[in-house]
Amino acid sequence: MTSSFEAIEPAQDIEPAQDIEPAQDIEPAQDIEPAQDIEPAQDIDRAQEAAKRNLWLHFTRMSAYADSHIPVIVRGSGAYVFDQRGKRYLDGLSGLFVSQVGHGRKEIAEAGARQAEELAYFPLWSYAHPKAIELATRLADLAPGDLNRVFFTTSGSEAVESAWKLAKQYFKLIGQPERYKVISRELAYHGTSMGALAITGLADIKYPFEPLPPGGVRVPNTNFYRAPEFVRDDLGAFGEWAADEIERAILREGPQSVAAVYLEPVQNSGGCFPPPPGYFQRVREICDRYGVLLVSDEVICAFGRLGYYFGSERYGYQPDIITFAKGLTSGYSPMGGMVVRDALIEPFTAGTATFLHGITFAGHPVSAAVALANLDIFEKEDLLGNVRTNEAAFRATLEKLNDLPIVGDIRGAGYFYGIEMVKDKATRETFDDEESERLLRGFLSQALFDAGLVCRTDDRGDPVIQLSPPLICGQEHFDEIEGILREVLTEAWNRL
Ligand SMILES: Cc1ncc(COP(=O)(O)O)c(C=O)c1O
Repeated sequence: MTSSFEAIEPAQDIEPAQDIEPAQDIEPAQDIEPAQDIEPAQDIDRAQEAAKRNLWLHFTRMSAYADSHIPVIVRGSGAYVFDQRGKRYLDGLSGLFVSQVGHGRKEIAEAGARQAEELAYFPLWSYAHPKAIELATRLADLAPGDLNRVFFTTSGSEAVESAWKLAKQYFKLIGQPERYKVISRELAYHGTSMGALAITGLADIKYPFEPLPPGGVRVPNTNFYRAPEFVRDDLGAFGEWAADEIERAILREGPQSVAAVYLEPVQNSGGCFPPPPGYFQRVREICDRYGVLLVSDEVICAFGRLGYYFGSERYGYQPDIITFAKGLTSGYSPMGGMVVRDALIEPFTAGTATFLHGITFAGHPVSAAVALANLDIFEKEDLLGNVRTNEAAFRATLEKLNDLPIVGDIRGAGYFYGIEMVKDKATRETFDDEESERLLRGFLSQALFDAGLVCRTDDRGDPVIQLSPPLICGQEHFDEIEGILREVLTEAWNRL
């Protein structure tokens, strides 16, 4: 597909193009904030100027804003966010798969403020503090099996990288020093720091930074819609084949050289690939057969996204390490981490052995307090129950879009869905690079945003729209998402 390395295309990130009409003018009166919440015009202009001069947006073509405004989101409330002009948007992506409990939760803000007053900062290097202890204990209770030891980080990339460093040092300590390789899936995104990038399976965002740390090995993902011909009609056989590809990779690389397999419960990048039934059980057996660690990268899939605290619970497998971030705090403060099996910490608990790794802000007291308050809301409002109760309705509402010629596949689980767009439904023919550029960057991203929906259009694999609404959402939000998608996708098809 598009070979640019701007792999993540925020809704607003489009090329300004003369020949494109202003997208969707849908702006129902109730979506506009009261006048007093709207920033004065000169403040808006000043912010634009300053943003263009001083701020560097991530994974964003900055040239796209030469002649257009950078969207500035100023506040949030529940499932909605608002821009400087007071316009309301349904946050159909939870920011970036983050805002599980929704925006504007005072009790979380207050928990953070209280903690900042009491103890704003102290490191976890040689010391502990009460909120890190409490949160580690709570996470150990929630995590499956004997995953009891929590190592905090500040982000998902650091969590992914920490797990690799742990695996490498662990194997050195137990006398298998040659194990360092990591197997992950094609198109899978595991983060951007050099180690995490080596695990990531997206060539376009890797090559500017090569050479990367050695040892990253790719295997097929579980995109059944694009399954090879010989297993295209049999989900079970496809799952067995995809799992066995991991075994073949281990054998090809030399089992004594492989440290870990990294898998997301539902792969995000490429557009939400759920695992076929039995896939993870087979992968677990393969990992056990060759002494390889199974890392469940749950940076997106943990904390309710799939209706469970951890995605591995939903699919009934036992990882050796779970990496997490994002939803742990619902974004009220940054935090990530990994929770690891008791057996993995054993070599570090005797003699002089030390895990030679640390991060200044990891386990930050304010973030830990915020995470605890966030998890309190999960319990009080039974957010997991909300997702489990409503996920079938979410799917059914999205599946109404199947009557549109551009909709090829709707896939996902819980509150996590991808909609793949195709040129031909019958043959599943996808768009060429030029069409994809014109469709996604030239029209769809902006049109969806203008119509009041924050979501993500992505062509790192075949073109998809991704949805991941806050876990507080219900039918009215699903209907709103479906309505906007229907209108904009219909218009996109007419423009092709
Ligand atoms: C599965 C997965 N792993 C790792 C990361 C990296 O997390 P972060 O952006 O917090 O570094 C992401 C980010 O989206 C992710 O989805």
